[in-house]
Amino acid sequence: MTTKDKILNELIKSKNDYISGGRIGRNLGISRNAVWKAIKQLENEGFKIEAVTNKGYRLLQKADTITAEDIINSMNTENVKENIIILDTTDSTNVYAKKLAEEGAKDRTVVIANEQSAGKGRMGRTFCSPKNSGIYMSLILRPDFPIDAAQLLTSYTAVTASQAIDNLYECNTQIKWVNDIMLCDKKICGILTEASINCETCKFSYIIVGIGINVGSVKNSFEDDLLSIASSLEDETKIVLPRSLVIAEFLDIFFENLPSLYDRSFLSLYRERSWILGKDVSVLRNGVATDAVALSIDDNAGLTVQYTDGTTETINSGEASVKKQTK
Ligand code: BTN
Repeated sequence: MTTKDKILNELIKSKNDYISGGRIGRNLGISRNAVWKAIKQLENEGFKIEAVTNKGYRLLQKADTITAEDIINSMNTENVKENIIILDTTDSTNVYAKKLAEEGAKDRTVVIANEQSAGKGRMGRTFCSPKNSGIYMSLILRPDFPIDAAQLLTSYTAVTASQAIDNLYECNTQIKWVNDIMLCDKKICGILTEASINCETCKFSYIIVGIGINVGSVKNSFEDDLLSIASSLEDETKIVLPRSLVIAEFLDIFFENLPSLYDRSFLSLYRERSWILGKDVSVLRNGVATDAVALSIDDNAGLTVQYTDGTTETINSGEASVKKQTK
């Protein structure tokens, strides 16, 4: 057992009582400074430890560690058994998954990281991925469906994430076209789908579906401008759940409901959960923003909008941001 683990043991044994650094040091035969260093290490790993002058330390919350075992134990299906890779840190799970896919990784391989140093968002943006608090996950899929169905997979993933979150947190998330999950009008989850196409067969060689969910509080890790548009499940619901459980719920629904992707029946849920329909939007394409109203979602998950001159168009790429209501 390492010094850090022994100190954790001391904190767990003290239950709700404070234990001083001096006392821990005497029990373990180490200096107070060594205790302090190990406490900092534990905090870095996600343990929440309170330190009060003249009283000592108290363990408030254990680290929420993601393990393949916990995920599999929480799953109802055996859909991804043995194909879960957990990383402590990586630049981007999508990049990591792509490398694995190029090396021949199996369909349904799942890559999860505890932290991303260069999380990728849509349209060249970054996805803020602080340590120990979010789910940063990429699925490697080798589906046999036509290339033009790629957008459907992204929308299907959004429905899956929305359902998984609602089931566990008893809330009503909505989907902002194409694939942002919103709770209380703030983004709590984003999805980035990337693919490699075999030009001879005109089929996908593989698809990487990247899902980022803000689970734990982001109040201390997101900058103010990000906090004005994004939040986390803990901050909005005050519910704290293990990330492994959220991952398991997502994977169960994703693989169980796949037939509804192929027959497009999931689209009714996608439409029901839309955050954007009926709202005034600004359609952003090739750097140009045009005012419109979001009318409907078509059978390819495209967004049909009506511009201010009365013309309508169905858009399949780009972004539609909801305009702030002026009173
Ligand atoms: C967006 O909101 O623009 C999409 C965000 C997608 C983030 C996820 S986190 C896991 C995977 N790895 C990445 O680098 N990005 C996706």
